[in-house]
Amino acid sequence: MKNMKPPLLSFLFISVLLEPLMVLVTGDNIGAYSPVDDIAVNCGSPGNSSESSRTWIGDAEDGSTYSPIDETHSSIKASASVSSPSFHNNLIPYQTARLSRSEFNYTFRVAAGPKFVRLHFFPSDYHNFRRAYSFFSVKAAGYTLLDNFSASLFSDHTGFTNFHKEFCLTVGADQILNVTFAPTPGNPDAYAFVNGIEVVSMPEHLYYNAVVDSTERIELAGQQAPYTFRTTDALEAVKRLNVGGQFVGPADDTGMYRTWEADEAYLTSSNIGVLPVNTTIQLNYSEQVPNYTAPDSVYRTARTMGTDKRINLSYNLTWSVEVDTDFYYLVRLHFCEFQIEINKHSDRAFKIFIDSQLVEGRADVTRWSGKGVPIYRDYAVYMHGGGKKRTNLSVALGALPDGSTLHSDAILNGLEIFKINNPGKNLSGLNPDPVPNKPPGPPPTSKAPSSFSRAAKIAIVAGGTSGFTVLSLLAFFLYWRRNGAKESASSKSSLPSGLCRHFSLAEIRAATNNFDEVFIIGVGGFGNVYKGYIDGGATQVAIKRLKPGSRQGLHEFRTEIEMLSQLRHLHLVSLIGFCNDAGEMILVYDYMARGTVSDHLYNTDNPPLPWKQRLQICIGAARGLDYLHTGAEHTIIHRDMKTANILLDEKWVAKVSDFGLSKFGPTSVSKTHVSTIVKGTLGYLDPEYYKRQQLTDKSDVYSFGVVLFEVLCARPAVNRTAPKEQINLAAWAQSCCKSGDVEKIVDPHLKGAIASECLNKFCEIAVSCLQGEGAKRPSMNDVVGNLEFALQLQVSAEQEAIDHAGASIDDRDDNDHGMASIGGDAMDSSDEAFSSSNGSGGKSSKAAVTTISSNDVRDVSTNNYDSQIL
Ligand SMILES: *[C@@H]1O[C@H](CO)[C@@H](O)[C@H](O)[C@H]1NC(C)=O
Ligand SMILES: *[C@@H]1O[C@H](CO)[C@@H](O)[C@H](O)[C@H]1NC(C)=O
Ligand SMILES: *[C@@H]1O[C@H](CO)[C@@H](O)[C@H](O)[C@H]1NC(C)=O
Ligand SMILES: *[C@@H]1O[C@H](CO)[C@@H](O)[C@H](O)[C@H]1NC(C)=O
Ligand SMILES: *[C@@H]1O[C@H](CO)[C@@H](O)[C@H](O)[C@H]1NC(C)=O
Ligand SMILES: *[C@@H]1O[C@H](CO)[C@@H](O)[C@H](O)[C@H]1NC(C)=O
Ligand SMILES: *[C@@H]1O[C@H](CO)[C@@H](O)[C@H](O)[C@H]1NC(C)=O
Ligand SMILES: *[C@@H]1O[C@H](CO)[C@@H](O)[C@H](O)[C@H]1NC(C)=O
Ligand SMILES: *[C@@H]1O[C@H](CO)[C@@H](O)[C@H](O)[C@H]1NC(C)=O
Ligand SMILES: *[C@@H]1O[C@H](CO)[C@@H](O)[C@H](O)[C@H]1NC(C)=O
Ligand SMILES: *[C@@H]1O[C@H](CO)[C@@H](O)[C@H](O)[C@H]1NC(C)=O
Repeated sequence: MKNMKPPLLSFLFISVLLEPLMVLVTGDNIGAYSPVDDIAVNCGSPGNSSESSRTWIGDAEDGSTYSPIDETHSSIKASASVSSPSFHNNLIPYQTARLSRSEFNYTFRVAAGPKFVRLHFFPSDYHNFRRAYSFFSVKAAGYTLLDNFSASLFSDHTGFTNFHKEFCLTVGADQILNVTFAPTPGNPDAYAFVNGIEVVSMPEHLYYNAVVDSTERIELAGQQAPYTFRTTDALEAVKRLNVGGQFVGPADDTGMYRTWEADEAYLTSSNIGVLPVNTTIQLNYSEQVPNYTAPDSVYRTARTMGTDKRINLSYNLTWSVEVDTDFYYLVRLHFCEFQIEINKHSDRAFKIFIDSQLVEGRADVTRWSGKGVPIYRDYAVYMHGGGKKRTNLSVALGALPDGSTLHSDAILNGLEIFKINNPGKNLSGLNPDPVPNKPPGPPPTSKAPSSFSRAAKIAIVAGGTSGFTVLSLLAFFLYWRRNGAKESASSKSSLPSGLCRHFSLAEIRAATNNFDEVFIIGVGGFGNVYKGYIDGGATQVAIKRLKPGSRQGLHEFRTEIEMLSQLRHLHLVSLIGFCNDAGEMILVYDYMARGTVSDHLYNTDNPPLPWKQRLQICIGAARGLDYLHTGAEHTIIHRDMKTANILLDEKWVAKVSDFGLSKFGPTSVSKTHVSTIVKGTLGYLDPEYYKRQQLTDKSDVYSFGVVLFEVLCARPAVNRTAPKEQINLAAWAQSCCKSGDVEKIVDPHLKGAIASECLNKFCEIAVSCLQGEGAKRPSMNDVVGNLEFALQLQVSAEQEAIDHAGASIDDRDDNDHGMASIGGDAMDSSDEAFSSSNGSGGKSSKAAVTTISSNDVRDVSTNNYDSQIL
């Protein structure tokens, strides 16, 4: 990098002392993969030039295979200016360049399949092309790889005096790969240039998985929907790190000439351990992870946390890489467990966060692959801009506490980050801003090429047993330095942290009498819910056991743990803990004695709920939802709001449950929605979300409007046996409200019990929630306020009635009391509608049931803690 910082000086100091310990990586992996197409063009060079691993073919000779097509014949070949005294760049292919103020094409006749396309740049003055004036686009295979790209601004910003940009794209059968360079139009000074171009085949399934259906699904950090990554997508390799190891250059890659940087410069956490390289252990590659995936030297080095458990638990091992905003990124993490102490499952398990979002709650490398067997995991993440051009993408590993793992520690061997093209088939970000105190004019080639300085710096982090002493010293230096810097990395955390307990499978088995059927209290799409007792019978819990083998389920499992363990609110169901021993996915919640709200509305033997209690339940649920939307720094969108997901505790307090579908909402102000695959439950789906697949917190508001009508009418959101216009509750209830005969849909058990002002207000709220346009719907906060007002109207009306009648009203008794004078006539006239409406027939026969006994209902609930997915 440009400026050497004090800690770097310490490294160099040690390296001088211990120079004899330096060990360099050898070309072990050469021959692991032989690319069909292996082209390296030295642009602007008259002849061929060889360096250690390959021959670069000059394009400047007459008749050269790779001479560019240039209709105006205006492109020139030139050598980089040597006028600058600091110019030491004698590396191939950076000495010469092809430059032009009009478009030129390089044409490659290559076999079909995925390719690396690497463009090499050394921004400098060339002939009469000034360094600062390069602005150009590069297009290939239908993709915009670079647009209005300034090599000098990029170089100044990153500190790389020469650099390459690597892209992955797929060439179709019988297609010719054209790489088109064009100066930015409208800028008379702009020119395009390139120093070198590589086109190298890659194994079919290395980054693109074309096996089944040409789509690859990757976990999307913090999001619900898996990301679909197509073989037709283009990628830009943003960063490739050999974690805990040293620089691995093109010659030492596995035949694809990739570059792996040392990771030290990208670490932002305070405390770093490096595993000594063990060269005796045999790495066992597999069919899924063949030996060309990454060099041996990547899998043979790793970082872990430290020696002290307290410290291990107090921080995340974090890497941070600057990226362009408003793109999806593919993040590949490489693991290989070779530490002597770690041999079996659960010896070392840890959490993985990407962009501060949990993507693995329990990463266990020995479980994933086994000792000495390399493996990688892919994740996708969308980096929101919020008005900024660039942001830092972080990968953080966190230790798990005692009891859930033997060593509270984490491991990472390698890291790759790729940018994925946006829907406009565009991979280009915006130019960084000019570096302020950089003098304009002379090229700033102030020192040796950065890859060299890096290599020098990296060499001391080499392996060998005695190298460990050096590493400990380094770790000490870093520890000392970072402690001074006061751990700024963790300040990104945005959700309040909470406690979450890990249960062993034995504990869960004991709690449920080995999953005895008689303990089942609910059956849902993802599996059974059991009632159980933990802590020696002291605490009653609900235990949700997800069906194994469902990736969908696994993701929801993680999401739910992540969300619920961090959120605590009176109106949210509390997650007590989880168990994922032996591949199980089990969640342990507070037991909600009275089951779901829907259990008390229809298709049930439970007595009907009185109106005020229903209002209180609605207010509670609305508060819970409001907290999700606004209580944490990130908006959390529930996505599956319905009466079956509102649970009731012993004291009838409503608690919102089932975050399996939840998503973090948009974080930036400029983005007001997140795009996603439509999920949720029929009858509750926001039509706007359904149509545009754009999810906002207002989608929950819509579903909540349906909930309100469900509570008022005591019928399901969708009733397929009802007359056509009544099937969908939202549509039916709205039309009744608009035509002014809302009484006709009110639960007959509430007949006469609702004050008309209250009913009007309640319908007004529900209808406003169901507005077609999300922006017009109220916030949940407004809904809470309005429902409280509706309750107030009910209370005062009842008070008035009492004052008038001088009689006492038992508001827990829902039948024919108190409010008979209000709206009574209208309701009477609608009796017929009720009896014809399916689902209420059974209810009227139970109307005789009077007061609610809390003991009656405790155990009959079909509590599902679960959701039904389209
Ligand atoms: C990688 O595996 C291939 C066969 O799968 C083998 O031919 C090659 O020698 C191996 N290379 C290395 C460096 O182990
Ligand atoms: C440069 O290399 C190419 C491909 O190997 C070859 O066809 C060409 O003849 C070489 N040119 C010279 C001048 O050696
Ligand atoms: C370069 O290739 C593109 C795409 O194949 C083509 O449209 C364009 O005309 C070519 N330009 C030149 C100068 O040959
Ligand atoms: C690439 O350029 C050649 C000649 O300029 C043209 O025939 C071919 O169609 C182009 N290929 C693509 C994919 O644009
Ligand atoms: C390397 O691994 C082998 C096999 O696990 C072990 O016997 C040996 O002690 C290890 N060596 C070092 C230096 O860790
Ligand atoms: C390599 O792994 C496979 C399965 O993961 C195992 O069957 C085989 O015995 C292992 N080989 C070595 C040499 O460890
Ligand atoms: C902390 O991490 C180190 C490895 O860096 C590991 O050896 C150790 O076991 C961890 N501490 C505890 C108490 O788990
Ligand atoms: C690790 O990072 C995550 C995500 O940013 C954060 O929630 C958590 O609190 C961090 N852990 C520690 C111990 O700092
Ligand atoms: C990324 O992090 C680095 C180091 O922590 C910082 O210097 C840089 O400004 C950050 N970049 C952005 C865009 O926030
Ligand atoms: C590509 O995206 C950049 C911003 O990321 C934008 O400035 C540019 O106009 C886009 N180019 C094309 C051809 O879409
Ligand atoms: C090209 O980039 C420069 C520097 O970032 C910017 O000033 C200019 O407006 C851009 N031009 C176009 C056409 O996007």
